[in-house]
Amino acid sequence: MTAHSAHPGAAFAELSELYQARSSARAFAPEPLPRDRLLELFAAAQRAPSWCNVQPWRVVVTEPPTTGRVTAALVAAAQSQPAAPEVAFPADYPSPHLEHRRACGLALYQAMGVARDDKEGRQRAWLRNYQGFDAPHLAVVSCDRRLGPYAYVDLGVWLGYLLPAAQALGIATCPMASIATYPAVLRERLPISPEDTIVFGVALGVADAQAAANQCRTQRDPVSANVQFV
Ligand SMILES: Cc1cc2nc3c(=O)[nH]c(=O)nc-3n(C[C@H](O)[C@H](O)[C@H](O)COP(=O)(O)O)c2cc1C
Repeated sequence: MTAHSAHPGAAFAELSELYQARSSARAFAPEPLPRDRLLELFAAAQRAPSWCNVQPWRVVVTEPPTTGRVTAALVAAAQSQPAAPEVAFPADYPSPHLEHRRACGLALYQAMGVARDDKEGRQRAWLRNYQGFDAPHLAVVSCDRRLGPYAYVDLGVWLGYLLPAAQALGIATCPMASIATYPAVLRERLPISPEDTIVFGVALGVADAQAAANQCRTQRDPVSANVQFV
């Protein structure tokens, strides 16, 4: 396809379809993915561009039984320790971010049948994060802290390659900042360099298609809310 052709080609249509079809999975079947499949996925994402091609993403992928050991420790930490992420979480969500955030939470709780005033239900749903939503694999993503904030941009681009590629391979995903809340738990159990900052995780596996949490779909604003031509 050329940039000025009237109709987008098949490649754009397929990519667009992948973008539309992908959503975060929050309930997984226990079966692990074959190592070859995972390698295929990470090899595709490896083509992501980065500042000066530094390719700063450092990724530790857990497989059972390590996944279970890590998530058990994360759940215990979430129940007993204050949050201590290495990249500060937003202290505040000014408008319109607050509205977006609320709508996203509401969509999930509605899908799960958790009522607004059901404190225990919300607590249980929140703890599921640290359980990695029972995914058989957690990818813990970090980068060398000496590269500064632009390396985070590179990690985001890499994630943007990974998620649709996973969708194309039939691999369900959930990007997870929550598991970065307890970095000491991850560092104790996984080979993460002291020079690296843990930025986020990604749960990977086969989605439990029937699970209520996986019926959640989020909306997007029109393009004009984010993009202006001058
Ligand atoms: C960097 C990043 C971190 C995220 N962390 C979490 C998380 O900790 N827990 C969670 O349930 N979802 C998490 N998400 C998923 C978002 O909530 C989700 O992408 C968003 O609501 C849009 O929904 P969709 O992915 O289904 O399109 C994260 C997404 C990103 C990109």
